[in-house]
Amino acid sequence: MSQLKNDLLLKALRKEKVERPPVWMMRQAGRYLPEYMVLREKYDFFERCQNPELACEITIQPVDIIGVDAAILFSDILVVPQAMGLEVELVESKGPILPEPIKTFRDFDRIRVPDVNETLQYVFDAIKLTKAELNNRVPLIGFAGAPWTILCYMVQGKGSKTFDEAKAFCYTQPALAHRLLQMITDTTIAYLKEQVKAGVDVIQVFDSWGGLLGPDDFENISLKYIREIINALRDEVLTIIFAKGAWHSLESMSKTGAQGLGIDWCITPQMARELAGSKITLQGNFDPAKLLSPIPVIKKEVRKMLSDFGGQHHIANLGHGILPNTPVDHARAFVETVKTYESHK
Ligand code: CP3
Repeated sequence: MSQLKNDLLLKALRKEKVERPPVWMMRQAGRYLPEYMVLREKYDFFERCQNPELACEITIQPVDIIGVDAAILFSDILVVPQAMGLEVELVESKGPILPEPIKTFRDFDRIRVPDVNETLQYVFDAIKLTKAELNNRVPLIGFAGAPWTILCYMVQGKGSKTFDEAKAFCYTQPALAHRLLQMITDTTIAYLKEQVKAGVDVIQVFDSWGGLLGPDDFENISLKYIREIINALRDEVLTIIFAKGAWHSLESMSKTGAQGLGIDWCITPQMARELAGSKITLQGNFDPAKLLSPIPVIKKEVRKMLSDFGGQHHIANLGHGILPNTPVDHARAFVETVKTYESHK
């Protein structure tokens, strides 16, 4: 295997000393980039995901335009429920819609643990093409949603602030919920193992709705399955868990065997470090809305964040996805400030 020219992300995850923290942004491939909007006009969302040339082009855009230290594959967490047999639509200004969600045991007739090579081959083709096109400039991150976050969409059928129907499903039909969570987990493990075979350097598990659960439910409904995924991958690839809002469980997440933990902006780096312990790399945690501030403010706040994390065992990132209305030069200021940071200053 040929050598990466910029392996800061891998070094930080392996807890090796780095001259400065690596930087990338969650949802960095997307709507704040005019170059993405051009492709968005021409092709629908899943067409962009399923066409390896388009997925590759969109994946590399932020590397070329913003100068991030890692690429994350352009795809979506919802390709998994799609592969399991559910219809998923992305409706302009409404977000994802699953017209026939899972509500009762009868709905299980419509879903299965698929052969990922039959249903998701286009993702693996996009990874191979992207690795070739990146030409070892930066590492490539693969990803999947955490089973609980995927269940949220499969049961609620659309986005929600509370995912009350998904929670009600778990609390009123626990056996069915665990059956579904296990099916998603089995699919996700097979899917991520093939992503690794296709060439990704790091895997991130997104638990965007982990913070909707209290600590005990987070353990039983979410972390239990994330742990199974991390365990299945531990000898094959470096892994990062991002469970938004689930700061209460940083200690248990730090014991899963993952190398990195993502945190959002509602916890200080110091407090996260106390909870997670010294053995794991932390990723985050700039408030994405702060990228809407004037550039001098962004620079000052980013430097504060970097110094609060202490310079090592840190991957600079946002605390959640970049907002679509972020000016490109503000995103670039975020990345540039990290790249020119010297920890003694
Ligand atoms: O990070 C990247 O740039 C890689 C690509 C990526 C997308 N979605 C592309 C996308 C990744 C890693 C995701 C993950 C994802 N998808 C999550 C977890 C991360 C998070 O933000 O919490 C979730 C919950 C989804 C589900 C999803 N997909 C939603 C809720 C939406 C609509 C709202 C939104 O945030 O845009 C999508 C669509 C989507 N996925 C877009 C992109 C670029 C926007 C599509 C468009 O309008 O062109």
